[in-house]
Amino acid sequence: MNEVTIEKLDNQGRGICYLNDKITFVKNTLPGEIVSLNITKETKKYNEAEVTQYIKKSPNRIESPCPYFNECGGCGLLHSKYEDTLKYKKEKLENILYKYANLKLNIDLIPSTNQLEYRNKITLKIINNKIGYYKPSSHELIEIKKCLLAEPAINNFIIDIPKLNIKNGEIVIRSNYNNELLIWIKTKDKIKPNIPYLKEHHKIVGIILNSQPLEGETSFIEIINHQLFTISYDSFFQINRDICSKLFNLIIKEITPNETILDLYCGVGTLGINASKNAKKAYGIEIVKNAVLNAITNSKINKRDNIYYMLGDVSVCLPKIKDQIDTIIVDPPRSGLDKSTKETLLTFNANKIIYVSCDPMTLARDLKELSTKYNITNIKGLDMFPFTHHIECLVVLYRR
Ligand SMILES: C[S@@+](CC[C@H](N)C(=O)[O-])C[C@H]1O[C@@H](n2cnc3c(N)ncnc32)[C@H](O)[C@@H]1O
Repeated sequence: MNEVTIEKLDNQGRGICYLNDKITFVKNTLPGEIVSLNITKETKKYNEAEVTQYIKKSPNRIESPCPYFNECGGCGLLHSKYEDTLKYKKEKLENILYKYANLKLNIDLIPSTNQLEYRNKITLKIINNKIGYYKPSSHELIEIKKCLLAEPAINNFIIDIPKLNIKNGEIVIRSNYNNELLIWIKTKDKIKPNIPYLKEHHKIVGIILNSQPLEGETSFIEIINHQLFTISYDSFFQINRDICSKLFNLIIKEITPNETILDLYCGVGTLGINASKNAKKAYGIEIVKNAVLNAITNSKINKRDNIYYMLGDVSVCLPKIKDQIDTIIVDPPRSGLDKSTKETLLTFNANKIIYVSCDPMTLARDLKELSTKYNITNIKGLDMFPFTHHIECLVVLYRR
């Protein structure tokens, strides 16, 4: 039997130990635990293993409140106390930024007010009428009736998904500040949903089938810090309302009146609209058409008549902007900034770059290159995704 001690957690929240000198990753373990293992995957460089027996459990372990915890993989830290997950994330962030960007910083991690029921959007798979999430790195379905990370309005809807009569497909469920729902169904099935029942039991603003409205609207309204945002069924929006509000507040502190601002990867315009209340002018760039249409509407709703939006790839649109820019906000997807975008960004000589990131690894890579012209002293972690290994970061870079 393979009996080992877990040394620490890796960047994905899995325990690390060594079997015959080979690094081995084990989910659902904590540092200091002694466990017996069964190897589930063996490669030249590493093993993956599962616990067959806990010989000594950590005093920091808690009973996960989720019945699907060990299988679903969506929130791999639900066996830890919340304060321990914050400590783990802070250390992880500091280590990555030190190792890959040579930044030695003591980073504050801002907690989420809601540690469960914080997600305003989930995506579920439907296979042969069974509803759930895929197991990590597989197409094996874990049937679920509830997701502890999702807002209550979403969970109330999950039990009524069978009323949509989908045999195979995917469903994206979004909720807003007012517990209203926007439902996006992706399926090749010809479906006959029981819409009167669903409308009677849930605050449904719209149901979209593939890309066509089936019932009601194709977008709904979210409110963050007294600002209204229209969000289409296929537009990005920050998934944790409380952390989104804290992110807005941190960004506002960095902006002075009369600036010209760029909001790159702007989605429905959130960060740029929030930052540009007293701006001279602002530009937003975004690749999803409905998101840009939302952003144009949102700039009008929030009385910003000085924001100009461009639809397209940032790397293509950015070089077309010829104004003198004071502040550049970037909030790219996990892949971070591509090489040409980074090169163009540096040519603007902006006073500040505000970098919002959901992946510390690509953030570190990009900061290393941007630090040729900018000082990096101001980094905050935000716990956008409690009980998962993910971290949101806000970095303010000041031109030297
Ligand atoms: C992390 S989201 C940020 C959205 C927005 N800043 C917010 O706070 O809601 C990244 C956004 O970048 C967009 N995007 C991804 N790749 C892009 C590209 N190459 N050019 C422009 N936009 C892109 C996505 O559609 C998404 O809306």
